Amino acid sequence: MGPAFCHLVLLTMFILVASPVQAADPDPLQDFCIADLSQKSFLNGYPCKDPTTAKAEDFIFKGLKDASIISDENPWGAAATLAFARHWPALNTLGVALVRLDLIPGGVIAPHTHNLATEIVFVTAGELYIGFVANSDDVSAPNKLFAGMVKAGEAFVIPRGLVHFQMNKGTINASTINFLNSHNPGISFLPLTLFGAQPAVDPALLARSFAVDQTSLTDLAVFWSAFSNVFVNLVIKQRNTPNAKEIQRWVLGQSVSLPRGPLQATNVHLEYGCR
Ligand SMILES: *[C@@H]1O[C@H](CO)[C@@H](O)[C@H](O)[C@H]1NC(C)=O
Repeated sequence: MGPAFCHLVLLTMFILVASPVQAADPDPLQDFCIADLSQKSFLNGYPCKDPTTAKAEDFIFKGLKDASIISDENPWGAAATLAFARHWPALNTLGVALVRLDLIPGGVIAPHTHNLATEIVFVTAGELYIGFVANSDDVSAPNKLFAGMVKAGEAFVIPRGLVHFQMNKGTINASTINFLNSHNPGISFLPLTLFGAQPAVDPALLARSFAVDQTSLTDLAVFWSAFSNVFVNLVIKQRNTPNAKEIQRWVLGQSVSLPRGPLQATNVHLEYGCR
């Protein structure tokens, strides 16, 4: 790789990382700001814990080691394990986050957007069909699909804010580690936001928007509204990782009847629904 190319790469990285126009999250004003999750105030992040109490362990996250178990009721055949600032408080204000995806063969991560982050999907096992669609008003490529097969060891980048998806097209379980340039990337799943919104979006509007009859729309709404309440509300603490931060997973279909309220501790895991 020639030096000119290398400089170009470095310059591009500098522009991506340092430009205030392009940065996803604002620049921090201190080296680190480990989130104090007990505080309720929130402005571009959580308040910082007293920095003199910071420990090396704060900067270690152990929650992405194990594959999620995908239950038979999981309608997508997939799960995501999040490492955002609220799961890994050291990320607060640093403008980065991680996600682990696990998909059984045929499983999908339904079309969604991250309104606050660009994402790189690094495939660690299996092979995935990954793609995004250019925005409908893109001057050169409106609604153009960019999609392809991505195998273990390969990566795919999804520009900030665009609708994208993943599907396990292989014969073995697939996993990915995804890097996002926000400590709080935001996730809007199209099926959940449109058909599982609470209160519901007027079905007449959705029927006309999709040019389908209202009955099929109502069926979709009935199906997805059962999941909207449990989407990001399952917290699992990994077995054998007592020092791990609590990690948050959504495992659709696995937790519809989870009790609300305080954490319920067992040796294996902690679970609660927080709405
Ligand atoms: C694939 O995932 C399923 C569902 O989570 C799990 O039961 C199974 O053990 C996994 N298979 C392998 C080979 O890891």
